[in-house]
Amino acid sequence: MAEELLAEERQGEATLVEAQSDLSNGKKLYLESYGCQMNFSDSEIVASIMTKAGYQTTRNSDEADVVLINTCSIRDNAEQRVRNRLTQFQKDKRNNPDKVIGILGCMAERLKSQLLEEEQLVDLVAGPDAYRELPGLVSEVESGQKAVNVLLSREETYAEIAPVRLDSNGISAFISIMRGCDNMCSFCVVPFTRGRERSRDPESIVAEAKDLFDKGYREVTLLGQNVDSYRWNENKKGEIIDPAKETVNFAQLLEKVALVHPDLRIRFSTSHPKDMTDEVLHTMAKYENICEYIHLPVQSGNSDVLKRMNRGYTREWYFNRIEAINRIMPNCGISTDIIAGFCGETEEEHKDTLSLMEELRYDFAYMFYYSERPKTLAARKYEDSVSLEDKKRRLNEIIDLQMVHSLESNKRAVGKTHKVLIEGFSKRSKEQYCGRNTQNVMIVFPKTEHKPGDYVHVKVTDCTSATLIGEVIDA
Ligand code: 5AD
Ligand code: SF4
Repeated sequence: MAEELLAEERQGEATLVEAQSDLSNGKKLYLESYGCQMNFSDSEIVASIMTKAGYQTTRNSDEADVVLINTCSIRDNAEQRVRNRLTQFQKDKRNNPDKVIGILGCMAERLKSQLLEEEQLVDLVAGPDAYRELPGLVSEVESGQKAVNVLLSREETYAEIAPVRLDSNGISAFISIMRGCDNMCSFCVVPFTRGRERSRDPESIVAEAKDLFDKGYREVTLLGQNVDSYRWNENKKGEIIDPAKETVNFAQLLEKVALVHPDLRIRFSTSHPKDMTDEVLHTMAKYENICEYIHLPVQSGNSDVLKRMNRGYTREWYFNRIEAINRIMPNCGISTDIIAGFCGETEEEHKDTLSLMEELRYDFAYMFYYSERPKTLAARKYEDSVSLEDKKRRLNEIIDLQMVHSLESNKRAVGKTHKVLIEGFSKRSKEQYCGRNTQNVMIVFPKTEHKPGDYVHVKVTDCTSATLIGEVIDA
């Protein structure tokens, strides 16, 4: 159904490009990722750690000695998908009993040794802060033991580990700037699976961006569960420093990365309405290479629901933040996340979400129906009272409305000229290039003499609700 489709865009499945190790141990690693961009970024750190330990990555799970699945727990259907995959890998193991099967990420953290002991689906379980230990954990399995490390850390940011870029187009890359989340939205399992919030050293972030630029990348997306609460305190390094330079907040970090090179585009995700400051918006407006696009999850258009969700803002506050975006960056693209059918949501409250959408007319949205997650505040405090039928119906109403708004937004782009970073060939044809405008909308256009990584001006002539269609013009 539609929810699956929309979630799928975000919850793609990645297998790796093959990465060579200098000190090969002759063994092959197959890595598969589910869930958010942060998980895909983590898999690049895992690949880096494992290639250093001598593994060569492969796209073919049959020939792998080690199979690792980086998992997501955000909704029940994400977990079900991984369970099915694990069952399949267990079947494959009959032909190769020495194959090590490991689970990483949020499901590993949430279910801990249950997958290993009760369900016997895996040999190894490693939580999001335990990836440095992976080579040792694999060795433990090879010596006949089951291996688990699900310790969460207050410090781990993998700051100095250079990620191995996986399934990359060589043009855009993710950079993790922080880990964990302290917000405790009542529906969300992330604070339990990814632990406390911690920010990464800005110098290592800037160095990673510079390195990517030197390698030909032209776009970086700074990742965190709540980028607006990024805060680096120099004192952590134990040095005596200039107190005026003591902390770096998100706006300052954005500026530092924007200054790496004017041809390096900067994006970021995810912003939180309760924390997004005008300072961030002014920094975005100041630098042409910081893209005019904000993903600002609203979750619900009703203040009582938002209170039960423990989101820390009201409908009015959210409107105020959108008004600030439009005032400071009139052409900014805005997208959101919406949950239908949260605990106790009445028909009136649901209608408030529709009316908020009508007023704000998002360019794009990720839409879900509520899925109760064990241990969360909502699971402990509120009854999951909306029937599945109502959840699905409300979600469909939300999706139908968003389709209208997305098409409307794309139609507004027709006839205009957009600066596009060429990412590569379009999915459909080698005669067509694709790339995004600053508002993050994909534009497809006939191939020219330009190369991926070049910026071109594209005049948009037509559109669907998902894509713009155009042609390169001399700007
Ligand atoms: N049920 C449904 N959707 C959820 N999300 C997070 N937790 C749940 C849940 N329990 C959605 C939120 C969040 C996005 C990443 O996933 O909209 O912003
Ligand atoms: Fe979950 Fe809320 Fe943190 Fe996002 S901000 S990860 S929704 S707790």
